[in-house]
Amino acid sequence: MKLPFAESYKIKMVESIKKSTYEERQKWIKEANYNLFNLKSSQVFIDLLTDSGTGAMSDKQWSEMMIGDESYAGASSYYKMKDAIKNILGFDYFLPTHQGRAAENVLFSATVNEDDVVPGNTHFDTTKGHIEFRKATAIDCTIDEAFDTSVFHPFKGNIDLSKLENVLKQYPKEKIPFIILTITCNSSGGQPVSMKNIKDVSKLAKKYDVKIIFDSARFAENAYFIKIREEEYKDKSIKEIVKEMFLYSDGMTMSSKKDAIVNMGGFIALRDEDIFKKAAVFNILYEGFITYGGMSGRDMSALAQGLDEGTEFDTLEARINQVYYLGNKLKKYNIPVQEPFGGHAIFIDAKKFLPNINKEEFPAQTLAVELYIEAGIRGVEIGAIMADRDPITRENRYPELELVRLAIPRRTYTKNHMDYIAVAIKNVFDRKDPINKGVKIVDEAPILRHFTVKLERI
Ligand code: F0G
Repeated sequence: MKLPFAESYKIKMVESIKKSTYEERQKWIKEANYNLFNLKSSQVFIDLLTDSGTGAMSDKQWSEMMIGDESYAGASSYYKMKDAIKNILGFDYFLPTHQGRAAENVLFSATVNEDDVVPGNTHFDTTKGHIEFRKATAIDCTIDEAFDTSVFHPFKGNIDLSKLENVLKQYPKEKIPFIILTITCNSSGGQPVSMKNIKDVSKLAKKYDVKIIFDSARFAENAYFIKIREEEYKDKSIKEIVKEMFLYSDGMTMSSKKDAIVNMGGFIALRDEDIFKKAAVFNILYEGFITYGGMSGRDMSALAQGLDEGTEFDTLEARINQVYYLGNKLKKYNIPVQEPFGGHAIFIDAKKFLPNINKEEFPAQTLAVELYIEAGIRGVEIGAIMADRDPITRENRYPELELVRLAIPRRTYTKNHMDYIAVAIKNVFDRKDPINKGVKIVDEAPILRHFTVKLERI
């Protein structure tokens, strides 16, 4: 018999999580104004709000925490991080920052100006926010297949080259600080970009003399998908693929809370000394001196170790297998989920799941609330509440897809937890009394309303 898959790690430390009753959860979610961000973590049994900063560090990472060097300048922890970035990613210059959006803030302060355009595959919210905040425009050049959940494409994060070339032709190169390639593309569902597409984008960038920056939060997951889906890479190691991917970029921003498996941290890495020097000024203003940039020494040391572990095939195989295990289980229960599954999360199609709820009553938020009440599982709405109001007309924007994202933290939950999640979702799906009423907004902030919105059940 073929041996089944098993993780290449065992567990040395555990953290208790609390079960609760249906009645308690009904009361708590009402007190939280039906906004899952307002719940206390102690009111949540399985937390799938995000895979960012929620992973389990290894024994080696914890050892690094103990020997972190907290010197203000020139800490050995900084040099550990510098070496890891050079050896694994291939960059000579880097700046530590406290997380991914801080890296965006620092780099874009040095490079993005009013009226610029930044083409890319679907930009992550904070990336787009930092571009628009500077009165520049993010232009989405993702392939059309990415927006159709019924189409299978192995690399739904890919850039449509003709869309990109149109932008490069239309604007002078002085107006395009860089192309941004998000690997994997979070906003299109954790979908990877192929090496072929990376190379083709790089060729176009060279032709028009424009730089490329990778938004790299989940770069190792992207490399894993290249290995298993792109024939000529099947015999290459993840580290070899990672090295090759970054050869085609001029720099990167990193939220280390994902594939470097730390609770907090980020960085910018660059090839060009001039951009590094410009960005370093903003790093000192916003983050801290250039050898710590908002991070503790111990966190830099754990990050360096995490970069090494996060780019090991066994780590990635266990992680992505777990996400796929949950996805396949849900499919077996006929739950409408987005396919192919992403690297870090499963997305439930809420319009198909709750066909009786119209878009004005926020089907994805309604489903996220029901799932919490059913079993204490916290997912997140990626739908009209998150899409927010149009900044000019102030009308609600209704995106094509209403999704509930179930993001799986790294090395944190077990197969039993995945089974529990799948059954909970099936139970909501099979309810005798169909869910006919959604939620309405009673109070909202002018921007980024999903974090603090107050809702009522209709
Ligand atoms: N880029 C991508 C692709 C991301 O997914 C994130 C964060 C960031 C940048 C910003 O990094 O949080 O460290 O400031 N994504 C988290 C998520 C929040 O839940 O998907 P950050």
